[in-house]
Amino acid sequence: MASIKLFCILIGMALFSVPFSSAFPGSYSGLFPEYYFFSCPQANDIVMSVLEKAISNDPRLAASLLRLHFHDCFVQGCDASILLDNSSTISSEKNAGPNKNSLRGFEVIDEIKVKLEQVCPRTVSCADILALAARDSTVLSGGPHWEVPLGRRDSKTASVSKANNDIPKPNATIQGLTTSFKRKGLNEEDLVALSGAHTIGVARCVTFRQRLYNQNGNNQPDITLEKSFYTNLKTTCPQAGGDNNISPLDFSPRRFDNTYFKLLMLGKGLLNSDEVLLTGNVRKTMDIVKNYASDEALFFQQFAKSMIKMGSISPLTGNHGEIRKNCRKLN
Ligand code: HEM
Ligand SMILES: *[C@@H]1O[C@H](CO)[C@@H](O)[C@H](O)[C@H]1NC(C)=O
Ligand SMILES: *[C@@H]1O[C@H](CO)[C@@H](O)[C@H](O)[C@H]1NC(C)=O
Repeated sequence: MASIKLFCILIGMALFSVPFSSAFPGSYSGLFPEYYFFSCPQANDIVMSVLEKAISNDPRLAASLLRLHFHDCFVQGCDASILLDNSSTISSEKNAGPNKNSLRGFEVIDEIKVKLEQVCPRTVSCADILALAARDSTVLSGGPHWEVPLGRRDSKTASVSKANNDIPKPNATIQGLTTSFKRKGLNEEDLVALSGAHTIGVARCVTFRQRLYNQNGNNQPDITLEKSFYTNLKTTCPQAGGDNNISPLDFSPRRFDNTYFKLLMLGKGLLNSDEVLLTGNVRKTMDIVKNYASDEALFFQQFAKSMIKMGSISPLTGNHGEIRKNCRKLN
């Protein structure tokens, strides 16, 4: 029924030559969910079916794929620049500080791309695959569903320096976080909601060690850390060594829920960038954390909205970029 209605809308638009983007007033940057309606109607199902299997074998993949889309969008926009490997013309963003020994999930993206190329060759971009995978990973973990605006094209460039500069650091202050999100067109509400992605997944000791041993250059721990949580973290993350030991970002790291915000309220946020949303003395972010801790539906609703906003950062459209055949290299 829904697809018959949609078909009529699309035919109507074709007849009256209504530009797609103006027919969807809520859309950003010319992206819209029905982009592959004629050219690859199977796209959404193919992405979901590969992910269902991959995530049931390795549940952490959901977190890793959600993060990949973030690290893509914050660097040159959502253009799949993150997926490019080193080559004679590309210096891969995979070697940048925030990404090295940290990003995961590239093989699953490859698997999705191979399947899509079999069914609809040279049609679905790697950037759109990342956006769909982030949404499906959220849904498969128990989080909200949203329609993903599509039509991104893939970059012909990558930028290690932008990856180093534009992706926020785990020891960032609240001012640092709001500034780096603002530069991408994202406000405090987006910052807090999107940080809620840390309801799933894990982090390595190197990303939170500073808080445990030397928060302010005075060899003292971060005083906002709850005592027993702090004691436990020290066993996972000694002062020296164990850099790659991991700790969950939330006590239910496979379940997309609002526990992350409840933990912030208890001084049990893992990263400094998590806890300062509440303790950073910015009234706005503090209030939003409290609201999400007490109202999971509100968090889910805003997370979906903010993911659409993040997914719309500077996409390549029209004849910019290309549709890569292999997500790891230029055509
Ligand atoms: C607000 C600024 C943010 C900072 C400073 C930050 C930092 C980090 C760090 C340091 C890790 C651990 C990486 C490692 O140890 O290898 C991590 C993991 C993760 N981040 Fe963020 N992040 C931020 C925002 C986001 C956003 C906006 C999303 C997605 C919408 C996101 C999704 C994730 C996920 C899902 C993981 C777990 C990945 C896994 O287990 O493989 N983060 N983040
Ligand atoms: C890619 O190139 C960079 C810089 O030239 C180098 O440091 C890195 O090790 C290379 N990475 C891989 C995976 O080959
Ligand atoms: C964060 O860590 C980096 C190096 O690990 C350091 O240079 C920087 O000063 C730290 N920033 C803050 C706000 O502590």
